[in-house]
Amino acid sequence: MSESSEIKKLTALLEVSKALGSTLDISAAVEKVLEILDRELGMKRGAIALLEEKVEESFICIPIKNQRKTTGALSIIYPFKQNRDYDDTVRYLTIVASMISQSLRLAQMVEQEKAQLADENALLKRELQQKYDFRNIIGTSKEMRDVYDQVAQVAHTNTTVLIRGESGTGKELVAHAIHYNSPRSSKPFIKVNCAALPESLIESELFGHEKGAFTGAVARKRGRFELAEGGTLFLDEIGDLSPALQVKLLRVLQEREFERVGGIETIKVNVRLIAATNVDLEVAVQDGRFRSDLYYRLNVFSIYLPPLRERRTDILLLAEHFLEKYSRQNGKRIKRISTPAIDMLMSYHWPGNVRELENVIERTALVCDGSVIHGYQLPPTLQTAEGSGTVTRISLDNAIGAYEKDLIQDALKSARGNRARAARMLDTTERILGYKVKKYGIDCRRYRA
Ligand SMILES: Nc1ncnc2c1ncn2[C@@H]1O[C@H](COP(=O)(O)OP(=O)(O)O)[C@@H](O)[C@H]1O
Ligand SMILES: [Mg+2]
Repeated sequence: MSESSEIKKLTALLEVSKALGSTLDISAAVEKVLEILDRELGMKRGAIALLEEKVEESFICIPIKNQRKTTGALSIIYPFKQNRDYDDTVRYLTIVASMISQSLRLAQMVEQEKAQLADENALLKRELQQKYDFRNIIGTSKEMRDVYDQVAQVAHTNTTVLIRGESGTGKELVAHAIHYNSPRSSKPFIKVNCAALPESLIESELFGHEKGAFTGAVARKRGRFELAEGGTLFLDEIGDLSPALQVKLLRVLQEREFERVGGIETIKVNVRLIAATNVDLEVAVQDGRFRSDLYYRLNVFSIYLPPLRERRTDILLLAEHFLEKYSRQNGKRIKRISTPAIDMLMSYHWPGNVRELENVIERTALVCDGSVIHGYQLPPTLQTAEGSGTVTRISLDNAIGAYEKDLIQDALKSARGNRARAARMLDTTERILGYKVKKYGIDCRRYRA
């Protein structure tokens, strides 16, 4: 024992004696003693049992055990009686103590389970967040960097965001990124597709309905606005919203309140709105298909996602990203995309944008049985050099030609542009190879570096 702790104990003793000597009120003095033990010696929590004078009493103390460890004590003071069966009392109190310990254990288990669920929940949320983290949006083109900047600028605010761009350009992905990078990220992200449902259904989807509001409304239902409370509501394909619903939406945007279908109670909501559309809203406004007041309300901060053909530098990155994803998913070991296949991916005009590219890679990964994706394995739409975009049927000659060109380019790549070596690899002569190289317009210098 160190000297200083000995001194501490002595000082505490002195204080205890002072406390006891300072008053005749014994319960007040005893309380002070406990305080001193805590303050000076860190003895948290104590209990002092005093038997009443003149009355003879019995003091019984039973341990409370949890999995064979003593975790507490039940102490009882009982008026003394000559013929009381104390053994019986002890047995009885032992039962009470074990009941207490059982409910303690139960409470502990519930707490543990709760903590575990909370952990799991946090983990799932983190996973979801990572999934939609905007670092997971692929693309390093100038156009996409502008998009990231805009997302970063607007995410932490409550501003309504309008995301525009062709179908498949990643509008929904960006909407997720905004939500999961906002202070609302722990609250719901709710999506409504305004084009997918008939008008009457969308209204009750958005605002909910009261029981009996219409045939089939057998119970009250909360709408997506209510479900998104505290979080974000994503209205996809907003350009397809009917005129009647445009009016209703405008009111929510202006006043942040609405009524359920068939209801009279006004409901207030705290919801951030993100809308997306591939419709040219300015034209729709001019044509009278879209209300201009709603347009101005929505168009506070708009993010434009350019079509994939206008950010070609992202094509390869995206293709590799999807290749990794789908080859992992299918348990394959596809390592790379051959040069001819890359050329085909790069020259195609991608009317369906990233979604189409993802589908192409998914399908190709499925049919690919080696470690390289070859040009001839890509779907027919990409086979014509112009990539016409219409579904074309490819002739046997063309398919063989594409295959041959692909093999030659691969061999030239391995031979670093050396034609003689490439010819040997393909078991042919340099003269024939030279003829094919010319026929397919292959540039050998490309492979020399
Ligand atoms: N920049 C990107 N990086 C990674 N995946 C993307 C990207 N853009 C789109 N995608 C993927 O392409 C598909 C279509 O994207 P989505 O956001 O639904 O497009 P939109 O809503 O504009 O039609 C989704 O599977 C999405 O994950
Ligand atoms: Mg979409």
